Amino acid sequence: MAVTGLNQTAGRPFGVDQMRNLALGEQVEALLCQMTLEEKIGQMNQVAGSRDTTGAPANTDIEEDVRTGRVGSVFNAFGAEFTRELQRDAVEHSRLGIPLLFGYDIIHGFRTIFPIPLGQAASWHLEGIERAARIMAKEGAAAGVHWTFAPMVDIARDPRWGRVMEGAGEDTHLTSLIARAQVRGIQGNEPGATDTLAACVKHYAAYGAVEAGREYNTVDMSEWRLRSIYLPPFLAALEEGCASVMTAFNTLNALPATCHPLLLDQILRREWGFEGMVVTDYTAIMELGQHGVAADASEASRKSVNAGVDMDMQSGYFIETLKTLVQNGQVEETRIDEAVRRILWLKAALGLFEDPYRYTSDEREAQCLLTGENRRAAREQAAQSMVLLKNEGNVLPLSDQHQKIALIGPLGNTPRLLGSWRGNGDHDDTVTLREGLANRLGEDAVILCAQGVSNQIGEDDTSGIEEALDLVRQADAVVLALGEDEDYADEAASRADIGLPGAQLELARRVLEAAGDTPVATVLFNGRPLTLTELDDLAPALLEAWWPGTEAGNAVADVLFGDVPPSGKLPMSFPVSVGQVPIYYNAFNTGRPKGVDPKYASQYLDIPNAPLYPFGFGLSYTTFEYGAIETACSEIGPDDTLEVSLTVTNTGERDGIEVVQLYLQDVHASVVRPLRELKDFRRIQLAPGAGERVVFHITPDMRSFLNAELERVQEPGLFRAQIGSCSESGEEIEFTVT
Ligand code: GLC
Repeated sequence: MAVTGLNQTAGRPFGVDQMRNLALGEQVEALLCQMTLEEKIGQMNQVAGSRDTTGAPANTDIEEDVRTGRVGSVFNAFGAEFTRELQRDAVEHSRLGIPLLFGYDIIHGFRTIFPIPLGQAASWHLEGIERAARIMAKEGAAAGVHWTFAPMVDIARDPRWGRVMEGAGEDTHLTSLIARAQVRGIQGNEPGATDTLAACVKHYAAYGAVEAGREYNTVDMSEWRLRSIYLPPFLAALEEGCASVMTAFNTLNALPATCHPLLLDQILRREWGFEGMVVTDYTAIMELGQHGVAADASEASRKSVNAGVDMDMQSGYFIETLKTLVQNGQVEETRIDEAVRRILWLKAALGLFEDPYRYTSDEREAQCLLTGENRRAAREQAAQSMVLLKNEGNVLPLSDQHQKIALIGPLGNTPRLLGSWRGNGDHDDTVTLREGLANRLGEDAVILCAQGVSNQIGEDDTSGIEEALDLVRQADAVVLALGEDEDYADEAASRADIGLPGAQLELARRVLEAAGDTPVATVLFNGRPLTLTELDDLAPALLEAWWPGTEAGNAVADVLFGDVPPSGKLPMSFPVSVGQVPIYYNAFNTGRPKGVDPKYASQYLDIPNAPLYPFGFGLSYTTFEYGAIETACSEIGPDDTLEVSLTVTNTGERDGIEVVQLYLQDVHASVVRPLRELKDFRRIQLAPGAGERVVFHITPDMRSFLNAELERVQEPGLFRAQIGSCSESGEEIEFTVT
């Protein structure tokens, strides 16, 4: 494996060169040499600091523990005043006054909530993703937070797993680029600026590969797959200067990730050269007991700290056992010092030693949250995240002439569109779809609302459908708002049946039947790919809106009425059936690919192999024509870069945004290679009739892969390049590398 050091993070806020910043190092050493063993261990202990309904700390021991130096970091505490109080307990009452590090899950917004990360990934708009991360960091930092547990970069090929909503989908290249954009947005360009946060890439590693899509379940894969598919986004985040790493709950190849020397020492430290801090996930050290690799707290602490964990989130095992482990020689004090250096270094880099209260400004908090500018950004990102899955008969965009809209479905008039991991988002701030349509159509419009059915799992009551049909018959257009409750795709929210919950399909069937020639637009609010095969048969127009966040209703209206063209492309395959899962576009051909034989081929008796909607798929309100691929030659040397290009033309009558995608196939190699792999893309905007020449450069790095010995190599031979609008279509050329 080629060793990729992190020294190319020059200039990155928390990159390796900053970590070797002498001034910060001197601050840390000056402090470290004064600390007792107990105080050092206290820095390695992170506890939850949320408030109860009265505003008091829910964790009643926290103030005493902070004052006695038993806590180095608090998570789930935010608010200038609350964090200032806790900080004062540390700075003014503990012996050395070491400031606390405040962490929080600011994943896709703090108070202004942006689309869920899977939705943002569908925008393929890296600048928009970075801007969203920038805004959420500004808001979180204004509320006293120093450190966010983001980006989440878990590759996911199984939509049964609820946390697919939190990542960027199935593709390693797209997830890696998005990870970089999120780290840039979160950390900004200046370490410790009070409108930035330290980032924490998670969950290290391969949490998205839980067996059967069942939360917290076993993960087991070849090291080839781990290093080729699941690890690159982590390296990308760290190369972008990400300050910290969070370990995953799951096992990887029979070892829990939280005590995994290959992950935490060999790869992270020796190969990648990462020098920042590693924090565990919530009680993950304690869970080594449940995993069956630790008989007690002492063994769990020993294994995790010696594997490379620096901070214990919430299990309390480090504070309870490390002192004895050091005294009896099972843990070297040098290991403790190494962990504490990383923690103190981060606090120093955030400027907390100069001014522990620098992030707690009531004024900044009052000014920065939920501003009009932030809402506008959230609305734009939400509109750009939406994916037009179907538009038969050009039902969409709706026309302003539609003045009597029947808004039918359980998600038409609800603020529960923020999604899970919604930070300090407030449903009261959310623009519902009903409000968004009213805002768009003006006060003369009539919007007739009926829920029809529930979207709760197991609630199959259809008695409300008749009322809904009455409204449909009165309307000149119908918007059908269906999907999942926002807590159905989340941590601890795996689903074995990934269809529309409740009786929503029955509602859709009856509404579409009753609508006759009245246009019906179906909008989906969900946190994972769903099985939509029956709905796809029924509905002429399908818009995937994910959970769009605070500006949901306005953003959906923007797209439904064509004010913003739909431009999203799926970051994750939508299966025909859950029986296809795991399903992903960059699969291998197998020795008996479908089609080679009517029976003896890699296929099912009862369902197709192909997904209903493939990775990279998304329609527009216009049409695009792809010209033939041009290239200067069809044979290149191993060090050459091949330029390929084609012209994309907007052949429709409306403005459109197209994500032009470049895929590559290494046709014969020493290991099997995917039929296609995303290597690059361009997001272009074209007016009707306009064309643009899109140029890609196929580099040696794009052609490289891990061989069976896990070495990064490029091999000579035949390659195919495809350029198209999704992973299943496009122009293709062949070329040879000598
Ligand atoms: C949770 C999640 C992790 C999160 C942490 C703190 O269990 O797995 O992503 O950052 O605990 O809330």
